[in-house]
Amino acid sequence: MTRSLVIGVMGAIAFGASLLITACSDNGTESDPQADAATGSSASVTSVASGAQASVAAPESFAICESCHAVQEGADHGIGPNLHSVFGTAAGSKSGFEYSEVMAASGVIWDEESLNAYLQSPQEFLPGNRMAFLGEADAQARGEIIDFLKTLN
Ligand code: HEC
Repeated sequence: MTRSLVIGVMGAIAFGASLLITACSDNGTESDPQADAATGSSASVTSVASGAQASVAAPESFAICESCHAVQEGADHGIGPNLHSVFGTAAGSKSGFEYSEVMAASGVIWDEESLNAYLQSPQEFLPGNRMAFLGEADAQARGEIIDFLKTLN
């Protein structure tokens, strides 16, 4: 009597467990395509939205730059030079700003490569330059900043 009860209980457990396994694997196969579809559609919506903003708004990572740099055409220099149309120009060439000698004599042209290196580590790229900024460690943020600087030309 006891034994058949035990077997009965074990059987029920085994049956229940196999149901659970079936249920789990069903869920797994069903939810994957749905998840993919959901991510796919939301990703494309996001990229369209940020693409549309790129030409007008500064990325969040640019906020710290604005404490020292103006970006509007003709705006006064701040602690740093106005960055309007800096992309593609020679370093240290904005009139009316007193650059460090290191910057003025660097011979650097601000393209994607030089800006990326300068913004990652200003002091490593141009030792002795006067930009009191430690650097932006995040490559994606640097990319966004450089894309934004290009829109100012
Ligand atoms: C604390 C103030 C400060 C901050 C913050 C700062 N800068 Fe500067 N920046 C300067 C100064 C000062 C110079 C001029 C350096 C020199 O002459 O040695 C400069 C120079 C530059 C130049 C070269 C301009 C030219 O005409 O050659 C670029 C490009 C630049 N900064 C971009 C940025 C970006 C992008 C950020 C934000 C990620 C940033 N800076 C953050 C102060 C700052």
